[in-house]
Amino acid sequence: MKPKHPLAIRWFHWLNFPILSLMIWSGLIIYWANDAYFSFPAWFYEKAHLSFRLGEGMAYHFLFMWFFAINGICYVSYTLFSGEWRELVPGRGALGQAFQVVLHDLGIRKEPLPPAKFNAAQQIAYTGIVLMGLGSLLTGLAIYRPVQLSFLAQAFGGYATARLVHFLLTVGYVGFFFMHVGQVIKAGWPNFKAMVTGHE
Ligand code: HEM
Repeated sequence: MKPKHPLAIRWFHWLNFPILSLMIWSGLIIYWANDAYFSFPAWFYEKAHLSFRLGEGMAYHFLFMWFFAINGICYVSYTLFSGEWRELVPGRGALGQAFQVVLHDLGIRKEPLPPAKFNAAQQIAYTGIVLMGLGSLLTGLAIYRPVQLSFLAQAFGGYATARLVHFLLTVGYVGFFFMHVGQVIKAGWPNFKAMVTGHE
């Protein structure tokens, strides 16, 4: 048994899961009031109890956004100060190496991948999801206070574009989630256990 994931990272990771779920759930309640990009069928909103709760949805969204932001800032700060970022940030040639990971996972590349805590595909995915989190915070602030923070909305090309990016990032989280959990299942129990106990 050797240490793999520091305690702080495990806490930030697992806290992020319920917080992000609450953000997506309350975000859907808000989206119901003006489902501009994609209309879920009425039965979906009804069965999921998402209808006619706009005020409540906003209250939850604007409460849990602080937890999402603080947890994210703590995670990024910790990775910077502890040096963990070196394992997470993709280096030169990461795209080519990630392609090798894909070939390996498809069974086309037969040689084993070079040993590393995270391979290039994981580095790209994990750094990407953190940047998406930053994007959600910035676009969220832009549409939360579009008058006071009009410069933010302008930076995203205006209120409408900031709202669209905010929505698309959420779709991205759902896509990431299924891919991530699929990869975790494929990687097997010891890999999952290491994210709980810290050791592998
Ligand atoms: C039930 C849901 C989830 C499970 C079972 C899960 C499981 C895991 C596991 C086992 C690892 C370690 C992977 C490895 O060693 O390669 C990991 C890492 C990671 N996961 Fe998840 N995860 C979940 C949800 C999420 C969500 C919702 C996000 C973000 C939106 C996320 C982001 C990350 C990141 C950024 C890492 C790298 C952490 C680091 O070492 O700094 N995970 N996850």
